[in-house]
Amino acid sequence: MKLLVLNGPNLNLLGTREPDVYGNETLDDVEAALRSSFPDVEFSFRQDNGEGALIDLLHTAHERGLDGVVFNPGGYTHTSVALRDAVSAIDPPVVEVHLSNVHAREAFRHKSYIAPVCAGQIAGLGTTGYHLAVRYFLDA
Ligand code: DQA
Repeated sequence: MKLLVLNGPNLNLLGTREPDVYGNETLDDVEAALRSSFPDVEFSFRQDNGEGALIDLLHTAHERGLDGVVFNPGGYTHTSVALRDAVSAIDPPVVEVHLSNVHAREAFRHKSYIAPVCAGQIAGLGTTGYHLAVRYFLDA
């Protein structure tokens, strides 16, 4: 099972960024916990702040033989038709993950351009959401 865990803008600041909203764990902590919980999964972890770079990474899904993508698109969730089109364009299923409960926050965070073309969305469960997304791919 080959999975890409892809994180979008500002998620490189996890651990120090608004810890009351996003918690104290860093992206490195998330990676270490996933690797330790799922030793048989072949993970790649990428983070980028740029919309185009995230699109390019999604486009590599086929040549990398990915079985799925766990994707936190950050703020682009609520703005990006181009990222939605990239998710639609690739074969492997994508699960959208948000640390915070976007539906309980500002109205502009209630809409996701990406979720309708994903296998599903997990929001509000903190870093556990990444683990649940991996679990989904293992059970699917
Ligand atoms: C986020 C939610 C987004 O609304 C926000 O812009 C982020 C993080 C989350 O993980 O809760 O950058 O995707």
